[in-house]
Amino acid sequence: MAALVLAASTAAMAAVRVGISMPTQSLQRWNQDGANMKERFEAIGYEVDLQFANNNVALQVSQIENMILNGADVLVISAIDGASLGTVLEIAKDEGIPVIAYDRLIMETDAVSYYATFDNYMVGTIQGKYLVEALDLDNRTDPVNIEITAGSPDDNNARYFYQGAMDQLMPYIEAGKVVVPSGQIAFEQVATLEWSSERAQARMDNLIAANYAGGLKLHAVLCSNDSTALGVTNSLIGAGFTKEEFPLITGQDCDIANTKNIIAGYQAMSVFKDTRTLAEQVVKMVQAIVNGEEPEVNDTETYFNGVFVVPTYLCEPVFADINNYEELLIESGYYTREQLGL
Ligand code: BGC
Repeated sequence: MAALVLAASTAAMAAVRVGISMPTQSLQRWNQDGANMKERFEAIGYEVDLQFANNNVALQVSQIENMILNGADVLVISAIDGASLGTVLEIAKDEGIPVIAYDRLIMETDAVSYYATFDNYMVGTIQGKYLVEALDLDNRTDPVNIEITAGSPDDNNARYFYQGAMDQLMPYIEAGKVVVPSGQIAFEQVATLEWSSERAQARMDNLIAANYAGGLKLHAVLCSNDSTALGVTNSLIGAGFTKEEFPLITGQDCDIANTKNIIAGYQAMSVFKDTRTLAEQVVKMVQAIVNGEEPEVNDTETYFNGVFVVPTYLCEPVFADINNYEELLIESGYYTREQLGL
């Protein structure tokens, strides 16, 4: 009898196992996302299997397979290539394992239950609006020159960021108030595979050589995120642009290297997506699922993944620049002064 009771209570207490699959460790944010979630899940007694896939799709698939084999109850996945997980997620679906798409939508499958992210279109809108205001496009009479850099074409987010920003800038481009001297405006022309700093840098090197070597002023470079912004900034510095003539560079994530560039005057802004907020929201979602409740969502219209509209929780992004970074990033406890070299 006693043994039976013990067995029953042990079974009742078997910890929930969460498999967390992050795309890469090469970017600061995914390390933070992974660490934040792990800590929060462990604090409520869940077991966590956290893996990073080195931007390698086959590795991500095999890591997810292993999570399923090892008895995951729930999967939280940020896909490298949103459309490449259908087959492995069929296994999860057959096993009744709920899947949460983390930050990036998982495409072309019905084996995803929920999506949690920051409002991706709004990220782009904030970047575009920032440039409209900082360049005073509504009042100035002389045209400005800008270049455009976008994210990875296999990441569903990249087009939202690009579109959000371009919807702000396009009216000015059409009115001739904003000129793109390279002529490269379409998403396919400006995308950066794997969000690679090196690729963004190499492309900017070419744009500078072809369009700005004769001294044409470059007023701004729209960059969708901080890893691409870093490549662009390095290219400009390498080409001899001084701080006084430095174009306005946008970004996203408030990575340490980029926040330092904001402080030093080499980047104008970065969209701040507090990874603590997203991690907390996803932990709440998983808890609700485990308890048989409906997780909270606030968008059931936007994120069609090619098969269905995935119920989504959108967090709100804000921007950081030289005027508010202290309050937003230091006083909030996100970074210490030392981390930012202050
Ligand atoms: C994320 C960005 C990140 C980018 C590169 C996007 O899906 O939303 O925050 O900068 O991937 O990793």
